[in-house]
Amino acid sequence: MNMKLIDGKATAESTKIEISAIVNDMKQRGERAPHLAAILVGNDPASETYVSNKIKTCKDIGFESSLIHLDASISEEDLLKSVQDLNNNPEVDGFIVQLPLPKHIDVHRVTEAILPEKDVDGFHPINVGRMSQQMPCYLPATPKGIMQLLETYQIDTVGKHCVVIGRSNIVGTPMSVLLSRNQYPGNCTVTICHSKTPNIADIIKQGDIVIAAIGQPLFVKAHMIKEGAVVIDVGMSRIASDVTKSGFRLAGDVDFDEVAPKCSYITPVPGGVGPMTIIGLVQNTLMARQKKVRFN
Ligand code: GUN
Repeated sequence: MNMKLIDGKATAESTKIEISAIVNDMKQRGERAPHLAAILVGNDPASETYVSNKIKTCKDIGFESSLIHLDASISEEDLLKSVQDLNNNPEVDGFIVQLPLPKHIDVHRVTEAILPEKDVDGFHPINVGRMSQQMPCYLPATPKGIMQLLETYQIDTVGKHCVVIGRSNIVGTPMSVLLSRNQYPGNCTVTICHSKTPNIADIIKQGDIVIAAIGQPLFVKAHMIKEGAVVIDVGMSRIASDVTKSGFRLAGDVDFDEVAPKCSYITPVPGGVGPMTIIGLVQNTLMARQKKVRFN
């Protein structure tokens, strides 16, 4: 198979240039730049990396940004106060609460406390409900970024069988909704697989498009993939490596080296979906600044 790499890093870089130009124009007109805030609770190293990448991207494209770093022992009430402060702050256009949260905090309560018009992660039930009814909304950042990659690479999705591996609220479930809609990219026949799916390899092998979002490094092997499939790898796990100086490397949910030769298109890790997640988030923040989504 003549495999093509889907270059998320390059796609993200060119989108960043476009957004920077829009922000520059706003500033020239004397308007305030978009402002993204992020609440980070505790010291999970992966979450710290994700959030600092988001903040860095804001700086690169001329957005204002704020990081609210709270101790892992913070009470749910105090975290909710922090959310309310951002809801009420007219200088903040959108904000996220980085997940996962410590176990003593109810993630649903926190998610519902975010004003839907500032919910640039698209996790609030109002945004999720609007998404599933094809109403104006903020799409969750990773699915939004994946849809843009499919569009950029003009992947033919109509009538294709898309197998989504993983059913998380952040990726698997929204991806399944978006790809089954009657628009491009979409019009797929979608199957969701998960940890209780028997014969998962047989089902994945039926996929013309496979979205791997289970957080199990190197789970998808060559024998599970149909010749010519499009493979989108959402995984980002740190695994031991004897090649790198650090002793670790980033691995996706797909065993790239053995799967890539069978694919028509595949995203690498790193440099595939990851950079596009951040693009989805900053695009939502720009929409929030411009009040593109009406909520009443
Ligand atoms: N944890 C993993 N992905 C995400 C994301 O897109 N947003 C937030 N807030 N937390 C995450």
